[in-house]
Amino acid sequence: MYARLSGVGSCLPGKPVSNEELASRGIDTSDEWIVSRTGIRTRYLAAPEVTSSQLALEASRRALDMADVRAEDLDLIIVATSTPDFIFPSNACLLQGKLGNKGATAFDVQAVCAGFTYALSIADKFIRSGSHKKALVVGAEVFSRILDWQDRATCVLFGDGAGAVVLEASEKPGILATALHADGSHNDILNVPGQVCSGTVVGDPFLRMDGQAVFKFAVRVLAEVAEEVCAAAGVASTEVDWLIPHQANIRIIEATGKKLGIDRDRVIVTVDRHGNTSAASVPLALDEAVRDGRIKRGQKVLLEGVGGGFTWGAILLEF
Ligand code: ACO
Repeated sequence: MYARLSGVGSCLPGKPVSNEELASRGIDTSDEWIVSRTGIRTRYLAAPEVTSSQLALEASRRALDMADVRAEDLDLIIVATSTPDFIFPSNACLLQGKLGNKGATAFDVQAVCAGFTYALSIADKFIRSGSHKKALVVGAEVFSRILDWQDRATCVLFGDGAGAVVLEASEKPGILATALHADGSHNDILNVPGQVCSGTVVGDPFLRMDGQAVFKFAVRVLAEVAEEVCAAAGVASTEVDWLIPHQANIRIIEATGKKLGIDRDRVIVTVDRHGNTSAASVPLALDEAVRDGRIKRGQKVLLEGVGGGFTWGAILLEF
């Protein structure tokens, strides 16, 4: 028994915001600096009243539509997010309520930019165990809410959005192999070190990052974990049809593809238009490449995430 993708969907809020527009809003930056260091040209920023569960709902409806699955038939809902609507209930329960599903297992996963790979791997294990048959797995973020707009080294990098997949029990492959890792000793190079306590924010509620340390860490672990899942599935990395790495930075993406021997034209890139949407980045890119016809049934696709924690993971699947 395999867990097989039967639908994909995504949602981006509002209109793209260009680098020039950020500069015109008073951020001391330039299109040239952002493009040369990151490859990012635009990102989507949700209006203040738009929440991550709303973006998740739109993405989920599109994925359910493609899969031809009714929301009430789902028995598992997992949302990967670091920017949920509330401390609780979880975004997965909020999404379940909006979809009109009752009774499915529903919970959030917090693994930051590796969140979608974590959530999809967990859903794979639920389905393969035989306990669940139809899962909705979502990555949804409004990172714009946790950015310090005075910190030009971080605020230009991120965007908002959501991506979703429907995963169903199937005799056809399917997810072939998954690998998830974390190393909490690196929690200090990327974090939001604040909390709400007795009605007050304690600590720092904004994203903080040591960009160069993150860069080096990401390139190393993305190559390692890709090789791990390929070895587990008995597939050479050069046999992978499409690589969808976490969309943080074009230089990280290119370095990873090069280490794995995967040509640039087999790597799906959305970071130029979406920026880094954290847990939403991989399913957003997957949805785009499925809908524009690049990814076809039967092809091998390698998904990869890396993020704060530090966390990282990969999934090799046959679409
Ligand atoms: N516009 C213009 N200048 C800037 C900006 C900006 N937006 N941001 C920083 N600078 C300046 C700095 O102030 C510094 O100026 P100085 O030399 O006068 O002090 C100069 O640019 C160089 O700054 P660095 O931080 O050394 O720049 P670096 O070359 O390391 O690039 C970057 C920074 C793009 C963040 C890079 O380190 C990187 O890509 N890191 C990976 C981080 C990443 O992708 N994180 C995403 C989240 S993590 C994840 O998803 C895995």
